[in-house]
Amino acid sequence: MASAKLVLGEEIAAIIAKFRAEPHPESQLIAVLHAVQSRFGYLSETHLDAVAQLLQVPAAKVAGVAGFYHFFRLKPRGKFIINVCLGTACYVKGAERVAQKVIDELGITWGETSKDGVFTLEGARCLGTCGLAPVVMIDDEIHGEVTPDQVPALLEKYLKKSRTR
Ligand code: FES
Repeated sequence: MASAKLVLGEEIAAIIAKFRAEPHPESQLIAVLHAVQSRFGYLSETHLDAVAQLLQVPAAKVAGVAGFYHFFRLKPRGKFIINVCLGTACYVKGAERVAQKVIDELGITWGETSKDGVFTLEGARCLGTCGLAPVVMIDDEIHGEVTPDQVPALLEKYLKKSRTR
């Protein structure tokens, strides 16, 4: 029990203890998993086992719920999230070629994180800035009219930033 608390930290252990005192602790499983993900960025097997132990819910159930909902991440995310917009306006203006350049440069595909842990690549349907198509958002910064040739310098800029984060 002590090591599960160590894995999740005092704050989350206290939340779980409160839920466990209620009549149906398993009904709070999603809320607990949200709390763990917002603290650690993702849900590792170790986190899930610790939740099962502290909430006293079978480990298979915890893993099943975490795997079922798309908003739970089971892998660590990078320091920077790259969203390449694949909405219609961006697609027409060449977003696919921009995305391919990002994929080639980082050696990862959609939903994956670069080996150095700096970048995670995600796709978006429309970032609401169609006039700037094709658009790439890195964290909350919008980059408009991006060409494949600009991608290496863009990534390099964030790589440098990552060293100070
Ligand atoms: S389609 Fe890309 S920002 Fe709208």
